[in-house]
Parts: sequence; C-alpha cells; structure tokens
Amino acid sequence: MNILILGSGGRECTLAWKISKSKMLSQLFIAPGNAGTSEYGINITIKETDFQAIAKLCKDNKIEMIVVGPEQALADGIQDYFAHDTSLAHIAIIGPSQHGAKLESSKEFAKKFMKKYDIPTAAYQSFDKTTYKEALEFLKTMPAPYVIKADGLAAGKGVVIPDTYEGAEKALKEMLLDDTFGKAGNRVVIEEFLDGIELSVFILTDGKDYVLLPEAKDYKRIGEGNTGLNTGGMGSISPVPFANKEFMNKVIQHIIEPTLVGLQKEKIDYCGFLFLGLIKVNNNPYVIEYNVRLGDPETESVIPRVENDLLELFIAAKNKKLHQHQIRISNKAASTIVMVSGGYPESFQKGFVIHGITQETDNMVFHAGTSRNENNEIISAGGRVLAITSLANSPQEALKKCYAKAEKISFNNFHYRKDIGFDIL
Ligand code: AMP
Ligand code: GLY
Repeated sequence: MNILILGSGGRECTLAWKISKSKMLSQLFIAPGNAGTSEYGINITIKETDFQAIAKLCKDNKIEMIVVGPEQALADGIQDYFAHDTSLAHIAIIGPSQHGAKLESSKEFAKKFMKKYDIPTAAYQSFDKTTYKEALEFLKTMPAPYVIKADGLAAGKGVVIPDTYEGAEKALKEMLLDDTFGKAGNRVVIEEFLDGIELSVFILTDGKDYVLLPEAKDYKRIGEGNTGLNTGGMGSISPVPFANKEFMNKVIQHIIEPTLVGLQKEKIDYCGFLFLGLIKVNNNPYVIEYNVRLGDPETESVIPRVENDLLELFIAAKNKKLHQHQIRISNKAASTIVMVSGGYPESFQKGFVIHGITQETDNMVFHAGTSRNENNEIISAGGRVLAITSLANSPQEALKKCYAKAEKISFNNFHYRKDIGFDIL
C-alpha cells in the first residue's frame, strides 16, 4: 500500500519511521517532510493545505491512504474534499471530517459538545464583539487568574491567562476589538481556571470503537522549571506516573466513552487520532482541550512505545474494524528532549549545519525543523530542530540516554531543556 504523510515536524518524522517498518507498506511519501523523513520515504514539496496538488500526487502515485499530521488541513476539510470526489473517495484519510475537526478549530464548538455530553471541563461562557460589555461583566464575576481563549486556531498562542482583572480586560479588548488574533479571535471563550497537573491522552478511533495509545506529558515552556515563553514543546515523557489504572479508568468512563457517544450522536465522521488535553484536579480528569491529531513532541514518546503495526491499525480504523484489534504497548518508558534554535520561540537564525546525529535502536533522533544544504549536509530550518527519543526500563534512564546523545549533537547556538520530567519523576 502506498501512503502519504502530511506535515514536516518531529511528529511526522516519528510517524514516517514507524510506518516505514510496516509489512503492509509499499511506498511512503511525505509532504513536505524534512531531512529526517527522507530517510524513510520520498519527500514531496507540496504544502499540506494544497488539496489539489495532494490529490494529483495521490493519483499519480496510486496512494491509498493519507495520514494527516497537523490540524490545519483537517480544519480546512481535507477529509471532505477527498470523500466528496468520486475519483478520490477510495483514498482513506486518517483524520476527521471538517465537522469533527471543529473540536479543535473552535473552542466554543468543543465546549458546547462537552457540555451536551456531560464531559468534565471548566465552566465557561463565550462572547463576540457585540457582547463585549457582557464579557467584561462576566469577568467581574470570576476569580483570578482569568482564562481567555480565542475561539479559532491560533498556532498555540490563542490562550492567555492574566492574573489581574486589568490584564484580562486588555486581553479581551485585543482579541475582540483590536483583532490581534484575526478571525480566530472573533469569538472568545472565558473559562474557569483549573489548578492541577496536565497530561495528554490519545486514542485512535474509527468513530465508534477506539484503541487507547500510551499517555504522555509534554513540557511547553522554553525555560527550566516550566518558566518563560510557551513553545511548540520542549520534551515529553511516557508513561505518566500519576496516570495509574484508577485515574485512566476515570478518563475512559467520564471522557473517552461520552466523547465517542457524542461523535456518533452528532453524526461526525471521525477516523483518526483524537488528543485529549487533560488536567488532573483532586484526582479527577477534566478536558482542557481536544486536538484532532497527535501531539508534538508527545508523538515522539508515544509512538515508539506502540508495538502494533501502525498501518494495520489505520486500515482497521478505515474499515471500522478497530474493535478487532488490541493495542500492545511496550513496558519500556520513553523520553524525548527537543533541541531548538537559540532565540526560539522568539526570532532565531537557521541554516546552521548540524553535526553528530546518529541512530540506534531505542535511542533515536527524529527531525523537526531540518533540511539539507547544497552540499547535502543537514541544516537547521526551524525553531524546533531535533527531537531525541530514548526507550529504557525507567524514564530516568531514558532521559539519561537522551542527554548523552544530545551532548554529541551540535549546531550553532542550540538550546535544550535539561529538566524534562522534573515535576513528575
Ligand atoms: P489550550 O490551547 O486550550 O490547550 O490552552 C493552552 C494552555 O493553557 C493549556 O495547556 C493549559 O496549560 C492552559 N489552560 C487552558 N485552559 C485552562 C484552564 N481552564 N485552567 C487552567 N489552565 C488552562
Ligand atoms: N504538544 C501539544 C500539541 O501538540 O498541541
């Protein structure tokens, strides 16, 4: 079977690595991919949102399945585009319909869905320009800190959590009146602040049944001790020690099962990954957000622990036969650290040659922002450059292996956090 992966980050490199091992794979394509994905398949320079070019690529190369990495193509309706064209409808899309993608692309849609299906989440109200005054009144009824979210996709920057009423008022004005977030901020959700510890839970679902993937914890802040600016993610750990059987049973019963009931009742066509961004408060899970894809850099710790042939699971999902499959998860722990360009997540330079990348079983380098220069050397090409993932008998041991590998890799002005896992291990 010929497969296309859409995306260009560490998540997609990990998927390419995993899918390249499948007995069912004939040829793997990645669009646009990075220097790492080209080790596992053929990179094609097409944007993941250029559906016409993707369709042509599929026809020309007899591609039968597209695995969608990032959210934008899903929010733009790639699944619908293929499903509604008779010459493309045989191509399976691993990723939901545009309707399903609204769980991520509209915070208000997700909150309404959770409320309707009794899924634990922070109390909220939503507002637009015409109800700006009401939004200010609502803020006054809330205790600090204030959680204000732009409704639409905002590349991870759409959530602000000011400590003071003045800060909240300013953020609200910027989103609703000053259009700082463009269309994404036309509506805002204001919600109750939940104080707890976060984790990421993933399922692969065919819309009715699902397999539960390993959970993970990611580290979003640039600085040690979870300080400084938010990034795309600086590291991850799987499993998460506090996500024990009792806790995960609550996740299944109170979150996953009612979510699947909701998908069916709302007639949402969903074949793909669903990422539950959860927070544990008093030993109970609450949903902070849904994402309709895998997380990055969680994928780098999650997928290497999955022992199944991933393509076999994708085919089962496509045929709505996931109930016939059981997930097999390695007993080993996985840790990931992300090497970033100095200056990231603010401005940074790229184009630096990267030295010292090696690959060993259980001690891997997944590429994120990399490409090749005219001398065919691997160079930095983004903020997050490399994800180093190790598997070992304990997360501590896995981290040690990650850091030992990181010491051998270098490029101009790189940075990585040296305290991944500090709060849970
Ligand atoms: P989101 O984009 O919705 O995942 O929000 C980004 C981050 O903001 C989350 O990972 C949390 O750290 C934080 N956050 C979002 N909503 C809440 C909330 N209701 N209470 C506390 N923190 C939150
Ligand atoms: N690591 C969080 C995300 O992928 O959104």
